Amino acid sequence: MPHPSSRLSNIIPSGKDGWEVHFAAMNRKEAGEPIIMLSVGDHDFDTPAETVEACVAAVRDGYHHYTQLPGIPALREAMARISTQSTGVETHPDQVIATPGGQAALYAAVQGTVDRGEHAIVVAPYYATYPGTFRAAEAEFTVVETRAAEGFQPNAAEIEKAVRPNTRAVLINTPNNPTGAVYTRKSLEALADICRRHDLWLLSDEVYWTLGGGEHLSPRALPGMAERTLVINSMSKSHGMTGWRIGWLTGPEDFITLLVNLNLVTTYGLTDFVSRAAAEALDKGYGVKEIAERYAGRRTVFLDAVRGMNDVTVRGSEGGMYVMLDVSAIERDDEKFAWAFLESESVAVMPGSSFGEAAAGHIRISLCQHEDVLRDAANRLRRFVSSYRSKAA
Ligand SMILES: Cc1ncc(COP(=O)(O)O)c(C=O)c1O
Repeated sequence: MPHPSSRLSNIIPSGKDGWEVHFAAMNRKEAGEPIIMLSVGDHDFDTPAETVEACVAAVRDGYHHYTQLPGIPALREAMARISTQSTGVETHPDQVIATPGGQAALYAAVQGTVDRGEHAIVVAPYYATYPGTFRAAEAEFTVVETRAAEGFQPNAAEIEKAVRPNTRAVLINTPNNPTGAVYTRKSLEALADICRRHDLWLLSDEVYWTLGGGEHLSPRALPGMAERTLVINSMSKSHGMTGWRIGWLTGPEDFITLLVNLNLVTTYGLTDFVSRAAAEALDKGYGVKEIAERYAGRRTVFLDAVRGMNDVTVRGSEGGMYVMLDVSAIERDDEKFAWAFLESESVAVMPGSSFGEAAAGHIRISLCQHEDVLRDAANRLRRFVSSYRSKAA
């Protein structure tokens, strides 16, 4: 075949991507082994029945056609209402654009703010697609690690040191995947100060905003930030709709107007009947409270079961769909730990270093399993840790 573009082949440079343990476990599970999968963040339950019914009705009612490029009006209105609620800033429908999932909102945010060869800062640990999303824009980026001992809160001084003359944006994620850390007001104020002084965009991935435990704080609400913050949102986590691919970006109206051109050349608008169901699900809040309560309950069950386990320290783990455990006192090589845990206890977890250096020595546990399964997995972890230590002694 003729050469693919370097833009395409550089998105994921060849080599390891950190998901080896997960895919090996998945293959073994599919071959019939009873593996407990705690490596992936997709719900173990279906989309709420009301949302499904709304979609079926929309299909039957003939909503089969092209839609407006930035989203159908009812969907944009519903998204704007949720953005007003989640960010605390009054939001107009012209300040939101609907995208196929949060990932596409992230892609749009990066394409819209950073030119080829320009620079961005990515706060780590980060969601696995972040580096590739900047490479797709042929942009440079610096990863600034947070520290486990500081609860994975961003360190403003280190972020500021990474700012270059051609830096355009900083990307953060709170509540965080993979650490579960929820950024404090103090951390966000310090970040906002850097963005204002250096005239940077703040790309704020808030797809876990309903799963943060307490009240959600968006940096968009801080003084002078609404004009430079782009909020990435999604129905995947909050509304149990991962496979429906509905997300949105919130930002200044002029910027969103420009972004409509990106939808013109990529999606050409979202699916009609899915958009109708999504608008209803946003308006009526289908599943939101139940899903948030389910994950909060699971987090409590798992953390209670882990607490007191020798040499295992809980870090972050305040929100989102994951728990982060520091196992470095047992084994510094998190990948070795994850493989050994899979071998001896048939539990699949993600090695922390898959998400950047800051999470090395940790394992990420997904809460996308029933409470009983999580209790069982915690017991297996306890048994594994004590036998690993005695073998090592
Ligand atoms: C932090 C974060 N951002 C964005 C996404 C993208 O979500 P989606 O494209 O399903 O909306 C995910 C998915 O896991 C995520 O964890």
